[in-house]
Amino acid sequence: MLSRGALDFVKRDHEAILIHGWVLSFDGGTATSFVVSAGDEPVDVVDLTTRQASPDIEAAFPSIRGSDCARFTIRCAVPRSDVPLIRIVPQFGGDGGSALFGLPADAIPRPDKEAVDVIGGDFFQAFEFLSHFIEHGGLEASMDVLDVGCGVGRMAVPLAFFLLPSARYEGFDVAESGVAWATNVISRQFPNFKFRHVDVCNDAYNPSGRLQSVDFAFPYDDERFDFVYLTSVLTHMRGPEVRHYLSEIRRVLRPDGRCLCTCFLLDDEARQLLATGKGTERLIHLVGDGFTSDPELPEKAIGFDSRSFNEWLAAARLDARLCLLGGWCGRERYASYQDILVLERTGA
Ligand SMILES: C[S@@+](CC[C@H](N)C(=O)[O-])C[C@H]1O[C@@H](n2cnc3c(N)ncnc32)[C@H](O)[C@@H]1O
Repeated sequence: MLSRGALDFVKRDHEAILIHGWVLSFDGGTATSFVVSAGDEPVDVVDLTTRQASPDIEAAFPSIRGSDCARFTIRCAVPRSDVPLIRIVPQFGGDGGSALFGLPADAIPRPDKEAVDVIGGDFFQAFEFLSHFIEHGGLEASMDVLDVGCGVGRMAVPLAFFLLPSARYEGFDVAESGVAWATNVISRQFPNFKFRHVDVCNDAYNPSGRLQSVDFAFPYDDERFDFVYLTSVLTHMRGPEVRHYLSEIRRVLRPDGRCLCTCFLLDDEARQLLATGKGTERLIHLVGDGFTSDPELPEKAIGFDSRSFNEWLAAARLDARLCLLGGWCGRERYASYQDILVLERTGA
Protein backbone atom coordinates (compact mmCIF):
# COMPACT_ATOMS: atom_id res chain seq x y z
CA MET A 1 0.00 0.00 0.00
CA LEU A 2 1.33 3.48 -0.90
CA SER A 3 2.25 5.23 2.32
CA ARG A 4 4.61 8.01 3.33
CA GLY A 5 6.22 8.92 6.61
CA ALA A 6 9.44 9.46 8.52
CA LEU A 7 10.92 8.91 11.95
CA ASP A 8 11.57 12.26 13.65
CA PHE A 9 13.77 10.70 16.27
CA VAL A 10 14.97 7.42 17.78
CA LYS A 11 16.26 7.80 21.36
CA ARG A 12 17.71 5.48 23.96
CA ASP A 13 15.72 5.59 27.18
CA HIS A 14 17.24 3.19 29.79
CA GLU A 15 16.30 -0.37 28.69
CA ALA A 16 13.97 0.93 26.00
CA ILE A 17 14.03 3.00 22.86
CA LEU A 18 11.61 5.76 22.14
CA ILE A 19 10.57 6.36 18.53
CA HIS A 20 8.61 9.33 17.30
CA GLY A 21 7.42 9.79 13.75
CA TRP A 22 4.57 10.25 11.32
CA VAL A 23 3.00 8.11 8.67
CA LEU A 24 -0.03 8.21 6.45
CA SER A 25 -1.58 5.97 3.86
CA PHE A 26 -2.67 7.56 0.60
CA ASP A 27 -5.77 5.39 0.72
CA GLY A 28 -6.73 7.31 3.85
CA GLY A 29 -6.46 6.52 7.51
CA THR A 30 -3.76 6.37 10.10
CA ALA A 31 -1.65 3.37 11.11
CA THR A 32 -3.24 1.10 13.70
CA SER A 33 -0.10 -0.82 14.73
CA PHE A 34 3.59 -1.21 13.87
CA VAL A 35 5.97 -4.12 13.35
CA VAL A 36 9.35 -3.05 14.75
CA SER A 37 12.79 -4.58 14.34
CA ALA A 38 16.23 -3.52 15.51
CA GLY A 39 18.90 -4.78 13.12
CA ASP A 40 17.55 -8.19 12.10
CA GLU A 41 15.71 -8.88 15.34
CA PRO A 42 12.02 -8.26 15.97
CA VAL A 43 11.36 -6.23 19.11
CA ASP A 44 8.26 -5.89 21.29
CA VAL A 45 6.27 -2.69 21.28
CA VAL A 46 5.51 -1.97 24.95
CA ASP A 47 3.68 1.29 24.48
CA LEU A 48 2.08 2.94 21.46
CA THR A 49 0.30 6.26 21.01
CA THR A 50 -1.16 6.98 17.59
CA ARG A 51 -3.30 9.74 16.08
CA GLN A 52 -1.24 12.59 17.54
CA ALA A 53 -1.75 16.03 16.01
CA SER A 54 0.35 16.75 12.88
CA PRO A 55 -0.48 20.23 11.52
CA ASP A 56 2.71 20.27 9.40
CA ILE A 57 1.75 16.98 7.71
CA GLU A 58 -1.80 18.25 7.17
CA ALA A 59 -0.37 21.37 5.51
CA ALA A 60 1.78 19.18 3.20
CA PHE A 61 -1.00 16.67 2.38
CA PRO A 62 -4.26 18.60 2.88
CA SER A 63 -6.45 16.26 0.84
CA ILE A 64 -5.32 13.00 2.48
CA ARG A 65 -7.61 11.72 5.24
CA GLY A 66 -5.78 11.35 8.54
CA SER A 67 -2.99 13.82 7.70
CA ASP A 68 -4.09 16.00 10.67
CA CYS A 69 -3.30 13.18 13.14
CA ALA A 70 -0.47 11.24 11.50
CA ARG A 71 2.09 11.33 14.34
CA PHE A 72 2.86 8.42 16.65
CA THR A 73 5.13 7.51 19.56
CA ILE A 74 6.39 3.97 20.17
CA ARG A 75 8.32 2.61 23.14
CA CYS A 76 10.14 -0.69 22.54
CA ALA A 77 12.19 -2.95 24.75
CA VAL A 78 15.76 -3.12 23.32
CA PRO A 79 18.11 -4.45 25.99
CA ARG A 80 21.42 -3.91 24.11
CA SER A 81 23.18 -0.61 24.69
CA ASP A 82 23.98 0.09 21.04
CA VAL A 83 20.83 0.72 19.04
CA PRO A 84 21.17 -0.71 15.51
CA LEU A 85 19.18 0.41 12.52
CA ILE A 86 15.51 0.58 13.50
CA ARG A 87 12.94 -0.56 10.98
CA ILE A 88 9.21 0.04 11.44
CA VAL A 89 6.49 -1.29 9.18
CA PRO A 90 3.22 0.57 9.72
CA GLN A 91 0.06 -1.51 9.52
CA PHE A 92 -3.15 -0.05 8.11
CA GLY A 93 -5.85 -2.54 9.07
CA GLY A 94 -4.58 -5.72 7.41
CA ASP A 95 -2.14 -4.02 5.01
CA GLY A 96 1.51 -3.13 5.58
CA GLY A 97 2.84 0.22 4.39
CA SER A 98 6.40 1.14 3.39
CA ALA A 99 9.06 0.56 6.04
CA LEU A 100 10.41 3.56 7.96
CA PHE A 101 14.03 3.54 9.08
CA GLY A 102 15.91 5.47 11.75
CA LEU A 103 18.99 5.65 13.93
CA PRO A 104 19.62 7.52 17.17
CA ALA A 105 20.78 11.06 16.37
CA ASP A 106 24.23 10.46 17.89
CA ALA A 107 24.87 7.57 15.46
CA ILE A 108 24.38 9.83 12.43
CA PRO A 109 27.43 11.88 11.44
CA ARG A 110 26.59 15.50 10.65
CA PRO A 111 28.25 17.35 7.81
CA ASP A 112 28.49 21.12 8.13
CA LYS A 113 25.69 23.35 6.89
CA GLU A 114 27.58 24.31 3.74
CA ALA A 115 27.82 20.67 2.65
CA VAL A 116 24.14 20.10 3.37
CA ASP A 117 23.26 23.24 1.39
CA VAL A 118 25.23 21.93 -1.60
CA ILE A 119 23.29 18.68 -1.77
CA GLY A 120 20.11 20.67 -1.17
CA GLY A 121 18.36 18.56 1.35
CA ASP A 122 17.85 17.05 4.69
CA PHE A 123 20.16 14.24 5.79
CA PHE A 124 17.12 12.40 7.11
CA GLN A 125 15.88 11.92 3.52
CA ALA A 126 18.42 9.13 3.33
CA PHE A 127 16.21 6.98 5.55
CA GLU A 128 13.34 7.42 3.09
CA PHE A 129 15.64 6.25 0.30
CA LEU A 130 16.89 3.22 2.20
CA SER A 131 13.26 2.12 2.26
CA HIS A 132 12.89 2.71 -1.52
CA PHE A 133 16.16 0.86 -2.20
CA ILE A 134 14.95 -2.21 -0.31
CA GLU A 135 11.26 -2.19 -1.16
CA HIS A 136 11.42 -1.09 -4.79
CA GLY A 137 15.04 -1.67 -5.79
CA GLY A 138 15.40 -5.12 -4.19
CA LEU A 139 18.54 -4.09 -2.27
CA GLU A 140 19.88 -6.83 0.01
CA ALA A 141 22.48 -6.52 2.79
CA SER A 142 25.06 -8.64 0.96
CA MET A 143 25.02 -6.65 -2.30
CA ASP A 144 27.79 -4.59 -3.92
CA VAL A 145 26.51 -1.05 -4.39
CA LEU A 146 27.48 1.95 -6.53
CA ASP A 147 26.33 5.47 -5.56
CA VAL A 148 26.73 7.70 -8.65
CA GLY A 149 26.95 11.36 -7.57
CA CYS A 150 27.28 10.41 -3.90
CA GLY A 151 27.77 14.03 -2.78
CA VAL A 152 28.68 14.14 0.87
CA GLY A 153 27.57 10.53 1.43
CA ARG A 154 24.09 11.37 2.62
CA MET A 155 22.52 8.16 1.27
CA ALA A 156 25.57 6.15 2.36
CA VAL A 157 25.05 6.73 6.08
CA PRO A 158 21.98 4.53 6.68
CA LEU A 159 23.32 2.08 4.08
CA ALA A 160 26.46 1.69 6.19
CA PHE A 161 24.28 0.37 9.01
CA PHE A 162 22.33 -1.88 6.61
CA LEU A 163 25.01 -3.51 4.40
CA LEU A 164 27.10 -6.38 5.73
CA PRO A 165 30.83 -5.68 6.19
CA SER A 166 31.47 -8.11 3.30
CA ALA A 167 29.38 -6.00 0.90
CA ARG A 168 31.30 -3.34 -1.05
CA TYR A 169 30.06 0.24 -1.40
CA GLU A 170 31.63 2.61 -3.95
CA GLY A 171 30.57 6.22 -4.42
CA PHE A 172 31.91 8.91 -6.75
CA ASP A 173 31.21 12.56 -7.24
CA VAL A 174 32.50 15.63 -9.06
CA ALA A 175 32.40 17.78 -5.89
CA GLU A 176 35.70 17.23 -4.09
CA SER A 177 34.77 18.61 -0.65
CA GLY A 178 31.83 16.23 -0.21
CA VAL A 179 33.95 13.21 -1.11
CA ALA A 180 36.69 14.32 1.30
CA TRP A 181 34.19 14.63 4.15
CA ALA A 182 32.62 11.25 3.43
CA THR A 183 36.04 9.58 3.27
CA ASN A 184 37.13 11.12 6.58
CA VAL A 185 33.95 10.40 8.45
CA ILE A 186 32.18 7.41 6.88
CA SER A 187 35.05 5.30 5.50
CA ARG A 188 36.94 5.65 8.77
CA GLN A 189 34.10 3.88 10.59
CA PHE A 190 33.06 1.62 7.69
CA PRO A 191 36.16 0.51 5.70
CA ASN A 192 33.99 -1.29 3.11
CA PHE A 193 32.72 2.19 2.04
CA LYS A 194 34.94 3.89 -0.54
CA PHE A 195 34.39 7.40 -1.93
CA ARG A 196 36.15 8.79 -5.00
CA HIS A 197 36.46 12.25 -6.51
CA VAL A 198 36.26 12.44 -10.31
CA ASP A 199 37.17 15.70 -12.01
CA VAL A 200 34.16 15.80 -14.32
CA CYS A 201 32.63 19.16 -15.28
CA ASN A 202 29.19 20.17 -14.07
CA ASP A 203 28.39 23.90 -14.29
CA ALA A 204 26.59 23.87 -10.92
CA TYR A 205 28.89 21.55 -8.93
CA ASN A 206 32.34 21.50 -10.57
CA PRO A 207 32.49 24.15 -13.31
CA SER A 208 36.26 23.83 -13.80
CA GLY A 209 36.24 20.02 -14.13
CA ARG A 210 38.76 18.75 -16.70
CA LEU A 211 36.63 15.90 -18.11
CA GLN A 212 33.26 16.03 -19.82
CA SER A 213 30.51 13.71 -18.53
CA VAL A 214 29.94 12.38 -22.06
CA ASP A 215 33.54 11.11 -22.22
CA PHE A 216 33.77 9.81 -18.68
CA ALA A 217 33.99 6.04 -18.15
CA PHE A 218 32.96 5.01 -14.64
CA PRO A 219 36.18 3.78 -12.96
CA TYR A 220 34.90 0.21 -12.42
CA ASP A 221 34.99 -3.10 -14.26
CA ASP A 222 32.02 -4.40 -16.24
CA GLU A 223 29.26 -6.15 -14.22
CA ARG A 224 30.80 -5.08 -10.93
CA PHE A 225 27.63 -4.07 -9.00
CA ASP A 226 24.35 -5.63 -7.90
CA PHE A 227 22.73 -2.29 -7.18
CA VAL A 228 23.43 1.18 -8.61
CA TYR A 229 21.64 4.31 -7.47
CA LEU A 230 21.53 7.99 -8.41
CA THR A 231 19.53 10.23 -6.08
CA SER A 232 19.03 13.75 -7.40
CA VAL A 233 21.89 13.46 -9.90
CA LEU A 234 20.26 13.01 -13.35
CA THR A 235 18.15 16.04 -12.35
CA HIS A 236 21.37 18.13 -12.65
CA MET A 237 22.66 16.75 -15.96
CA ARG A 238 21.97 17.48 -19.62
CA GLY A 239 20.41 14.98 -22.04
CA PRO A 240 23.59 13.72 -23.80
CA GLU A 241 25.27 13.30 -20.39
CA VAL A 242 22.31 11.33 -19.06
CA ARG A 243 22.35 9.05 -22.10
CA HIS A 244 26.05 8.36 -21.63
CA TYR A 245 25.58 7.68 -17.90
CA LEU A 246 22.75 5.24 -18.68
CA SER A 247 25.10 3.25 -20.91
CA GLU A 248 27.76 3.25 -18.18
CA ILE A 249 25.19 2.09 -15.61
CA ARG A 250 24.23 -0.77 -17.94
CA ARG A 251 27.91 -1.69 -18.29
CA VAL A 252 28.70 -1.87 -14.55
CA LEU A 253 25.45 -3.64 -13.54
CA ARG A 254 25.48 -7.41 -13.08
CA PRO A 255 23.01 -9.21 -15.37
CA ASP A 256 20.39 -9.50 -12.61
CA GLY A 257 21.31 -6.16 -11.04
CA ARG A 258 19.08 -3.14 -10.64
CA CYS A 259 19.45 0.60 -10.74
CA LEU A 260 17.26 3.05 -8.83
CA CYS A 261 17.43 6.62 -10.09
CA THR A 262 15.45 9.77 -9.52
CA CYS A 263 14.42 12.13 -12.33
CA PHE A 264 12.00 14.86 -13.25
CA LEU A 265 9.87 13.27 -15.98
CA LEU A 266 7.58 15.52 -17.96
CA ASP A 267 4.48 13.52 -18.85
CA ASP A 268 1.05 14.99 -19.75
CA GLU A 269 -0.02 15.17 -16.10
CA ALA A 270 3.18 16.94 -14.97
CA ARG A 271 2.91 19.43 -17.83
CA GLN A 272 -0.73 20.18 -17.02
CA LEU A 273 0.03 20.66 -13.34
CA LEU A 274 2.93 23.02 -14.14
CA ALA A 275 0.70 24.94 -16.58
CA THR A 276 -1.78 25.62 -13.77
CA GLY A 277 0.97 26.99 -11.52
CA LYS A 278 1.33 23.88 -9.37
CA GLY A 279 4.64 22.35 -8.37
CA THR A 280 7.92 23.61 -7.01
CA GLU A 281 10.16 23.02 -10.05
CA ARG A 282 9.17 25.24 -13.01
CA LEU A 283 10.77 23.08 -15.70
CA ILE A 284 9.50 25.15 -18.60
CA HIS A 285 12.65 26.48 -20.35
CA LEU A 286 14.07 24.35 -23.13
CA VAL A 287 17.75 23.41 -22.68
CA GLY A 288 18.99 21.07 -25.43
CA ASP A 289 16.64 18.09 -25.21
CA GLY A 290 15.64 18.84 -21.60
CA PHE A 291 13.74 21.45 -19.64
CA THR A 292 15.06 23.62 -16.82
CA SER A 293 13.70 26.05 -14.26
CA ASP A 294 16.75 28.31 -14.61
CA PRO A 295 18.05 29.22 -18.08
CA GLU A 296 21.00 31.06 -16.45
CA LEU A 297 22.25 27.88 -14.76
CA PRO A 298 20.28 24.92 -16.20
CA GLU A 299 22.16 22.37 -14.06
CA LYS A 300 20.22 23.62 -11.02
CA ALA A 301 17.26 21.47 -12.14
CA ILE A 302 16.67 19.61 -15.41
CA GLY A 303 13.82 17.34 -16.44
CA PHE A 304 13.09 15.35 -19.58
CA ASP A 305 10.11 14.36 -21.68
CA SER A 306 9.04 10.98 -20.31
CA ARG A 307 8.66 9.38 -23.77
CA SER A 308 12.15 10.52 -24.80
CA PHE A 309 13.56 9.20 -21.55
CA ASN A 310 12.03 5.78 -22.23
CA GLU A 311 13.64 5.79 -25.69
CA TRP A 312 17.01 6.60 -24.08
CA LEU A 313 16.54 3.68 -21.70
CA ALA A 314 15.79 1.32 -24.58
CA ALA A 315 18.87 2.57 -26.46
CA ALA A 316 20.99 1.83 -23.37
CA ARG A 317 19.37 -1.65 -23.13
CA LEU A 318 17.68 -0.82 -19.87
CA ASP A 319 14.03 -1.19 -18.95
CA ALA A 320 12.02 0.60 -16.26
CA ARG A 321 10.38 -2.17 -14.23
CA LEU A 322 8.86 0.43 -11.90
CA CYS A 323 8.09 4.14 -12.08
CA LEU A 324 6.83 6.02 -9.02
CA LEU A 325 5.83 9.52 -10.03
CA GLY A 326 6.88 12.23 -7.57
CA GLY A 327 5.31 15.29 -5.95
CA TRP A 328 7.66 17.90 -7.49
CA CYS A 329 5.09 19.02 -10.09
CA GLY A 330 2.22 19.29 -7.61
CA ARG A 331 0.86 15.73 -7.49
CA GLU A 332 -0.94 15.05 -4.21
CA ARG A 333 -0.23 11.31 -3.92
CA TYR A 334 3.42 10.46 -4.26
CA ALA A 335 6.05 8.16 -2.82
CA SER A 336 8.85 10.73 -3.01
CA TYR A 337 9.56 14.30 -4.11
CA GLN A 338 11.34 13.36 -7.35
CA ASP A 339 10.18 10.63 -9.74
CA ILE A 340 11.75 7.25 -8.96
CA LEU A 341 12.64 4.71 -11.65
CA VAL A 342 13.88 1.16 -11.06
CA LEU A 343 15.85 -0.09 -14.06
CA GLU A 344 16.91 -3.56 -15.16
CA ARG A 345 19.16 -4.72 -17.96
CA THR A 346 17.58 -6.03 -21.15
CA GLY A 347 19.24 -8.24 -23.75
CA ALA A 348 22.43 -10.21 -23.39
C1 LIG B 1 21.61 17.32 -5.29
S1 LIG B 1 23.18 16.60 -5.13
C2 LIG B 1 22.74 14.95 -4.60
C3 LIG B 1 23.88 14.26 -3.91
C4 LIG B 1 23.57 12.86 -3.41
N1 LIG B 1 23.24 11.97 -4.49
C5 LIG B 1 22.47 12.91 -2.38
O1 LIG B 1 21.35 12.47 -2.66
O2 LIG B 1 22.73 13.38 -1.28
C6 LIG B 1 23.71 16.34 -6.82
C7 LIG B 1 25.06 15.68 -6.89
O3 LIG B 1 25.35 15.27 -8.21
C8 LIG B 1 26.72 15.45 -8.41
N2 LIG B 1 27.01 15.45 -9.85
C9 LIG B 1 26.66 16.37 -10.77
N3 LIG B 1 27.11 16.00 -11.98
C10 LIG B 1 27.72 14.80 -11.85
C11 LIG B 1 28.38 13.91 -12.73
N4 LIG B 1 28.48 14.18 -14.04
N5 LIG B 1 28.89 12.77 -12.22
C12 LIG B 1 28.80 12.49 -10.91
N6 LIG B 1 28.20 13.31 -10.01
C13 LIG B 1 27.67 14.45 -10.47
C14 LIG B 1 26.99 16.78 -7.73
O4 LIG B 1 28.34 17.03 -7.48
C15 LIG B 1 26.18 16.64 -6.46
O5 LIG B 1 26.91 16.06 -5.41
